[in-house]
Amino acid sequence: MALGPAVKAISKATVRSDFNDLEAVVHYTRAAHTLGLWASEQILIERYFPDRGARLLEAGCGAGRGCVGLWELGYRHLHAFDFAEELLMQAESLVIERKAQVHLFPADATALDRCDTLRDAVFDGVLFLFNGLMQIPLRRSRRRALRGLAARCRPGGTLLFTTHDRDSTPTEQAMWRLEALRWARGEQDPRLREFGDRYFEEAGTGRTFMHLPDRAEILADLAATGWRPVYDAMRSEIASESRAVRDFSDDCRFWIAVRT
Ligand SMILES: C[S@@+](CC[C@H](N)C(=O)[O-])C[C@H]1O[C@@H](n2cnc3c(N)ncnc32)[C@H](O)[C@@H]1O
Repeated sequence: MALGPAVKAISKATVRSDFNDLEAVVHYTRAAHTLGLWASEQILIERYFPDRGARLLEAGCGAGRGCVGLWELGYRHLHAFDFAEELLMQAESLVIERKAQVHLFPADATALDRCDTLRDAVFDGVLFLFNGLMQIPLRRSRRRALRGLAARCRPGGTLLFTTHDRDSTPTEQAMWRLEALRWARGEQDPRLREFGDRYFEEAGTGRTFMHLPDRAEILADLAATGWRPVYDAMRSEIASESRAVRDFSDDCRFWIAVRT
């Protein structure tokens, strides 16, 4: 579909600017201060990263919910980055407040080969929590991020991330069948670039871009980027989350993969 002059396709710059927006910064900062790690995250982190001495890298750390949670679980070799500087500043302040030690730095997950901080770094594990990977527009860019993370992880190292799942419920399936019809007729939101993309605005959260994959897409992306999947399950199958966590975030699929 050709875009009119006023309609701009969602890009990495759109996503970055949305995460630097005050509404999003307040939302993620509040979650970092009050929610900490979800029960499901803690279960899988302790199961798949049993060594508290492991060198861990968190991508898309936002306001520090994950990396500070990891510190509080006892992990002591933590690096974390984000490309939204406003969120990163909030993470820095939370790290100081909680007396944590986390090496925080700005970086773009789709351009890790250009990141000086990571030049000679090797990690035992990497995490991209709360669907951050799926907030990268374009499948080729998400694959670039997965490849970049694989390049910084030792063989046998572990990756944990989450996605939505277009097939997770009959309601989702019905909604995506309708969306497929819109794409077939060229009637989809013209700002979207790939089937599975969504761009929406919610009071209190701000604007959100999200790609919703199906399971086959993620399996193919992992195979193409140096990762072997070892586990996946919906969050609701792993733990019963608190009301506060469910209000903050929908159900999602957790993925664990091992660097080949
Ligand atoms: C849904 S938020 C999650 C923030 C935090 N991990 C949490 O769980 O509260 C996704 C994060 O991914 C970051 N992000 C998205 N695309 C990125 C990219 N290309 N490079 C680095 N960070 C990115 C966003 O800035 C945002 O902080």
